[in-house]
Amino acid sequence: MANKIIAANWKMNLMRDEAVSLLEGLKNGIPENEKADIVIFPPSIYISDLISINDSQIEVGAQNFYFENKGAFTGEVSAIQLKDMGCTHVLIGHSERRELFDESNELLFKKIKSALHANIKIIYCCGESLQEREDGSHLMKIQSQLEILNSLTNNELNSISIAYEPIWAIGTGLTATPLQAEEMHAFIRRVLIDTFSKELASEISILYGGSCNENNANELFNCPNIDGGLIGGASLKVDSFLKIVDSIK
Ligand code: 13P
Repeated sequence: MANKIIAANWKMNLMRDEAVSLLEGLKNGIPENEKADIVIFPPSIYISDLISINDSQIEVGAQNFYFENKGAFTGEVSAIQLKDMGCTHVLIGHSERRELFDESNELLFKKIKSALHANIKIIYCCGESLQEREDGSHLMKIQSQLEILNSLTNNELNSISIAYEPIWAIGTGLTATPLQAEEMHAFIRRVLIDTFSKELASEISILYGGSCNENNANELFNCPNIDGGLIGGASLKVDSFLKIVDSIK
C-alpha cells in the first residue's frame, strides 16, 4: 500500500512571522496519531528557522534546488545542503518551474538524480494544460512526463511520489472532478504497472493538486487511486489545512 501524504506547497508566500505561526498552528492541530505523512514546503529562507522550532511529526521539504552538489552557482542551494539542514523532501517538476523557469526534462532528470544521491524524497509533479485537456492529448502528455522515471531502479523509486496537478486547476478555483482526477490517477498507476511492476506501482503514492481545499478534499481522497494531496492556497491557513488533513483516511 502506498503511504498517504498531505503536502503543503507554500510557494512564495508568507513573511517569517506568518510562516512560524502557521507551523505552530499545524503542530498544535495535527493529532499525534496522524497516519498520513505531513510535509510542508516553505520558502527556502525559512527552512532552517522552521526546522529549529519543529518538534512534531511534520516534515519540512524544499520547493527548489540546483542539481550540482557545490561550487560556483551563485544564488543556488544543493540537495546535499538541504539534507544537511534537515529537509526530508523536494518538489521536482512543478508546472510553475517548468513554465516560468524553463525547466526541461533534461534538467529535471539531473535534479532527480541529485536528490536521490542526497537521500531526499521526491514529489515529482506532472500535469496537462487546458488546451491539452481540451484537445484530448492529456493522457499522452502525462505519460511523456512520467518517462523521465523509466531508468530509475526499484530502490530509487522507493523515494518517489507523484503529484498530478492539472495546470488549469492550479490557483484557479477550478478543481478536477473526482471522476477526472481518478481517471488520471488510475492511468498513472497503469503506466507505472506497465513500466515497472504491479507491486512497485502499488507502493508509489499519487497525490492530487490543483485547487484542492477543505470542501473537496474528502471526495477526492475517497478515490481509490488518490493517496493524498499537494495543496497550494488552502495550505496557507491553519484551519483549512487541518481540515484537509482530517479528510484523509
Ligand atoms: P493550489 O492549491 O493553490 O491550486 O496550488 C496547487 C499547487 O500548485 C500545489 O503545488
